[in-house]
Amino acid sequence: MLILGIESSCDETAAAVVRDGHECLSSVVQSQIDIHKAFGGVVPEVAARSHIEVVLAVIEEALVQAKTTWDDIDAIGITYAPGLVGSLLIGVMTARTLAIVKNKPLYPIHHVEGHVYSNFLLEPQPEFPMLSLIVSGLHSQLVLFRGHGDYTLLGQTQDDAVGEAFDKVARLLGFPYPGGPKISVAAEQGNAYAYNFPKAKMDGKYDFSFSGLKTAVLRQAQAICGKTHDFPSAQIPELLTQSQRNDIAASFQRIAVETLVDKTIAAFNEYLPNSVVIAGGVACNLELRRQLTDRLTIGIDYVSPSLCTDNAAMIATLTYYQSKHQPACNPYLLEVKPSLSM
Ligand code: KG4
Ligand code: ZN
Repeated sequence: MLILGIESSCDETAAAVVRDGHECLSSVVQSQIDIHKAFGGVVPEVAARSHIEVVLAVIEEALVQAKTTWDDIDAIGITYAPGLVGSLLIGVMTARTLAIVKNKPLYPIHHVEGHVYSNFLLEPQPEFPMLSLIVSGLHSQLVLFRGHGDYTLLGQTQDDAVGEAFDKVARLLGFPYPGGPKISVAAEQGNAYAYNFPKAKMDGKYDFSFSGLKTAVLRQAQAICGKTHDFPSAQIPELLTQSQRNDIAASFQRIAVETLVDKTIAAFNEYLPNSVVIAGGVACNLELRRQLTDRLTIGIDYVSPSLCTDNAAMIATLTYYQSKHQPACNPYLLEVKPSLSM
């Protein structure tokens, strides 16, 4: 079964063709990072306009790279939730139109659940029960999957997502958007024990919080610069040396990652799953991969970074499994759900 996936929930326009929920024939991602960099973050209106400009070309390219045509496509999967409303609308309207014109079944896909399914492109595939740590710019959650479409949310962030914390600390250190990857590069050169940042204590066993950590980093940076709490964060980067920046990045990253891994290991010990997977943009982080591999008592496989950040291969993969237990939607009626949780 050949599935075309389409993704446009934030600042990446993506299309991919995946065979039988396992074999990725093409994955095309048109990133808008260069457009949003100038603003220090994603501008929703600009994102929606950029999706309109490229979405059809990206879909066409995914078909070409997969060496296939519309005749061979069996179904379309489209991200309809959650995300930026304008961005979601472009993908959903495009997919609805194509499903009608090309007469293909259409499946609405949840973006966050989609992230987890990039792991089904691994060989061998993960086994159920599967514990998944989902860490992106908008989400930080631990979810236990007992089977396809059968999952329980164990815990989630109560404030900032971990990727958001990486991006905010990066801005404090003067790194351009998106800051996560720059933090991890700076951290390689820094001393991860230079500063002792706090780990949040939560009521929910598997809940996270990253907003206190972010504030602790700000206070530490102000103190290093010899400034008080009211000193503007925008002026901090120019007062820090390269090595101070590296030490802050490394110390922040160590605690953010330890927080994620502590909870993942605790959930692993309680639920004893057959596999553990990580998903979302922060899953690219090498320190996260290193700590998880070190502390888990079972083996863990990781997908390539291009499948961790937003892409449509994960959407096409989930579409295949979802189509086994859920009917296709009515392409005339599908609406976007910008804030639907998993
Ligand atoms: O999944 P994603 O591409 O988009 C969302 O759905 O949010 O995740 C983007 C997030 C950003 O916050 C980015 O800074 C973070 O993933 N990220 C990283 C790394 N690469 C991307 N964070 C830490 N270390 C990385 N290597
Ligand atoms: Zn995402």
